[in-house]
Amino acid sequence: MTNILDVQALKTEFRRKNTLIRAVNNISFTIKKGSVLSIVGESGSGKSVTMHSVLRLIPSTGKIVAEKINFMGRDLMRLTEKEMRKIRGDQISMIFQDPMSSLNPTIKIGRQISEVLLWHHKANPKEAKERTIRMLHEVGIASPIERYNQYPFEFSGGMRQRVMIAMALIGEPRLLIADEPTTSLDVTVQAQILALIKKMQEQNKMSVVLITHNLAVATMMADEMIVMYAGQIVEQATKAEFLNRASHPYTVALLGSTPKLNMKERLQSIPGQPPDLKNINLEGCPFVDRCSAKMERCSREEPPAVQLSPTHRIRCWLYT
Ligand SMILES: Nc1ncnc2c1ncn2[C@@H]1O[C@H](COP(=O)(O)OP(=O)(O)OP(=O)(O)O)[C@@H](O)[C@H]1O
Ligand SMILES: [Mg+2]
Repeated sequence: MTNILDVQALKTEFRRKNTLIRAVNNISFTIKKGSVLSIVGESGSGKSVTMHSVLRLIPSTGKIVAEKINFMGRDLMRLTEKEMRKIRGDQISMIFQDPMSSLNPTIKIGRQISEVLLWHHKANPKEAKERTIRMLHEVGIASPIERYNQYPFEFSGGMRQRVMIAMALIGEPRLLIADEPTTSLDVTVQAQILALIKKMQEQNKMSVVLITHNLAVATMMADEMIVMYAGQIVEQATKAEFLNRASHPYTVALLGSTPKLNMKERLQSIPGQPPDLKNINLEGCPFVDRCSAKMERCSREEPPAVQLSPTHRIRCWLYT
């Protein structure tokens, strides 16, 4: 299968006064066409910054460096801002973690969604309206014809999140980046949205990056899994390898602290704190302070990437 996205040696840093925050620290990964990649990891591990970096949506205090960010044969790092804007929303859509800030309060919901189709010349106004109403229905909004003409303030928080999902899906993107897309939704609606994403993935060969705190959702949706810790990818594997042969002590701890993979469960926390990314010890392994299997060299030397199978890679001294 061909890769739709190939990210090599991505680093994203933020500079604040005299401190440097290494939010994403030299990560590489690929996504195959038509497949789902789930990214898990505790708060602050760099999941959102990774995908914002791919879309080049990082504030000016941030700096992105990468060997390449190749999307369907084009290096996104080399595109102009104008070319990038065309790719965003046309070929790559993102459902943001904080969707409330992305709706315009002064424009009716229906128009905001159908604009995606009109702007990218994917439909005429009549078609755009019909498809928007259909999409509102598909994301579970009752009375979509009436809802089409309402403003964001007339929608509940969960409904606004569904509007954002509709907006991200209506243009039939090649790649969907969904950052905690269903967090504020109840379990029934969550299941409906995930089924809709799955359906579009299968029908349109859409690729998906799913960022979630819920291991059950992550594994249910995924073909491949990435586990992030302190800005690094500590383990990447196929879903089967992740569930049957999780190897990094952090992944093992995460799975161990979540005895039942349940749709309602957020990622459980494990004892201890992640390192402060400002003072991160670049010499050793970032997980060393919380690791139950730590060895002497772990605090001195950065663990190498170890290939456990062609599709399974970890960063840990235990496997060298
Ligand atoms: N604009 C910014 N300026 C400075 N630091 C930032 C900025 N955005 C993110 N960071 C820092 O980068 C690190 C990674 O943040 P990121 O938002 O990617 O975490 P995350 O894994 O998505 O967490 P969560 O699960 O809470 O969404 C954090 O330490 C965060 O404080
Ligand atoms: Mg995030």
